[in-house]
Amino acid sequence: MADGRLSGGRLHQPARMMMNRTMKDVLILAIETSCDETAAAVVKNGRTVLSNVISSQIELHTLYGGVVPEIASRKHIEKINQVIEAALSEAKVTLKEITAIGVTYGPGLVGALLVGVAEAKAIAYAAGLPLIGVHHIEGHISANYIENQGLEPPFVCLVVSGGHTHLVIVRDYGEYEILGRTRDDAAGEAFDKVARAIGLGYPGGPKVDKLAKEGNPHAIEFPRAQIEGAPYDFSFSGVKSAVLNYLNSYQMKGEEIDRADLAASFQTSIVEVLVSHAICAAKEYHLDRLAIAGGVASNSALRSAMQQACEKEGITFYHPSPILCTDNAAMIGAAAYYEYQKGTRHGWDLNAVPNLKLGEH
Ligand code: KG4
Ligand code: ZN
Repeated sequence: MADGRLSGGRLHQPARMMMNRTMKDVLILAIETSCDETAAAVVKNGRTVLSNVISSQIELHTLYGGVVPEIASRKHIEKINQVIEAALSEAKVTLKEITAIGVTYGPGLVGALLVGVAEAKAIAYAAGLPLIGVHHIEGHISANYIENQGLEPPFVCLVVSGGHTHLVIVRDYGEYEILGRTRDDAAGEAFDKVARAIGLGYPGGPKVDKLAKEGNPHAIEFPRAQIEGAPYDFSFSGVKSAVLNYLNSYQMKGEEIDRADLAASFQTSIVEVLVSHAICAAKEYHLDRLAIAGGVASNSALRSAMQQACEKEGITFYHPSPILCTDNAAMIGAAAYYEYQKGTRHGWDLNAVPNLKLGEH
């Protein structure tokens, strides 16, 4: 068991191991293929991005109105080597200078994840490098470390993406306490479904965001779900159904709807709930730092509402730039660095875990 890479599962080596490395830069080559972006990045010491290459498949999946898992896996296979080569060359480093390979191994689409995991294992094996499997959500949260050099745990983080909505306390690097999660749709999923219903296409979030700027956010009153006994949980299926019912009733009357008003009102109903839950958590747990993460964290209304609410409460607000909110490998490199420092190493039996829970390894 001396060599963690040869053992099954994950090894925690004593913290003093990392002390030997403090004089040397830690360069992580990170790989992310959990959904429809083939991404690779080189990240130095967890916070400095030397390269961040993303090959998006969005245009392809737009034809089908959403991500087609089989097509996603096939595209990853086609692109992964080019993307990794580009990441190394943009960072002006060779594999010899890389300290470890970080890769998303869950949650996500199983076939898509497998491409990244198999690639990471092959490179790590051939180059004799440690392998670090990363939780995709941990990656999203860690995106905040990249541009906010002073941000350190503990802080509250609202993770809002296409597949996840979690409100967590980041107790320490890699240590999470989940306060709440969605009971049904993820926030991004609600954006995507409403966008499709009003004919905006996929992915809906950015399109709703843009159209909402032209609408009145108080034109239509949509529900703000609050779950009894679970103040930090979310539910977005009610607002989604309310939007669909609203559209149906207008269609039956043969009347036109104002799509901008609808987009703005829907967006406000989601944003208000996200902001109020996150602020309540920061206050209740006496934390004066709040971060957001995930694709929906690039939503302009969410960012400005959260900024205002934080200012009012004396809370410092952190958010990654939009390119680091949606799926990318730089965030995986940041998360892998802190796992590396804790001594996390995965074995050659690392597999894709499509429903991996946050905090599980
Ligand atoms: O984090 P991400 O890239 O992938 C997942 O891990 O799911 O998030 C993608 C989601 C999609 O649902 C997309 O519609 C949403 O993030 N999104 C947005 C915006 N940009 C992306 N939602 C609202 N406003 C945006 N500006
Ligand atoms: Zn994601």
